[in-house]
Amino acid sequence: MKKIRIAIDGHSSCGKSTIAKEIAKKLDYIYVDTGAMYRAATLYFIRKGIRPDSENLPQELNDLAIEFKTVSGYPLPVVHLNGENVEEEIRRLEVSNQVSHYSKIAALRKKLVSQQQEIGKMGGVVMDGRDIGSVVFPEAELKLFMTASPEIRAKRRYDELVQKGESVEYEAILENVIQRDKEDSSRKESPLIQVKDAVLVDNSNMTREEQLEFVMDLIQKKLK
Ligand code: DC
Repeated sequence: MKKIRIAIDGHSSCGKSTIAKEIAKKLDYIYVDTGAMYRAATLYFIRKGIRPDSENLPQELNDLAIEFKTVSGYPLPVVHLNGENVEEEIRRLEVSNQVSHYSKIAALRKKLVSQQQEIGKMGGVVMDGRDIGSVVFPEAELKLFMTASPEIRAKRRYDELVQKGESVEYEAILENVIQRDKEDSSRKESPLIQVKDAVLVDNSNMTREEQLEFVMDLIQKKLK
């Protein structure tokens, strides 16, 4: 059976990774969370005290290794920063607040994009991010552009963090979501755009099941 590349781009916290994981599981494809890679890189620079505008940043990239590895207790491979499992730490608000400052750095994007292209070159991959259909795999067989209203996305992220025991405020999360939309869409390097061959999926009023059905339908047509 044909093994395609499925590129999922869209706004933050709109459930891209949830649907991407479900699809990957159904098709037995590799799932790549590229946001986790930018988050891990951000964590690396925060820990080292290297600011996004630092002159030393490009050199520091040589010592940055990001990989996905299988760990017991996790259903899918998780992101590792220089050998350390950072899956939990990269989801914290401190990283979320800083990540757009680092993800606009061209040298970092170049490094991560080439790693992503390598992972997906054989097909059979579901990759989510901001520039997958536009930069990483412009030739992807299926491209989706996902979104939902900022309020709904903030509420989903708020619930997620509260469930993990973090003490957070809804207003602060909403502000973070709106700010990141603005930064993701207006940055010079690989801004978030809906490419013309991407299918728009606004899941503000869709259940997970409806969304999965809609997307699986699109995939089946590509596999014929
Ligand atoms: O999908 P996410 O919210 O975990 O992504 C974290 C940040 O990384 C987000 O602010 C945008 C950036 N990002 C990016 O610039 N390019 C990607 N392919 C994926 C994420």
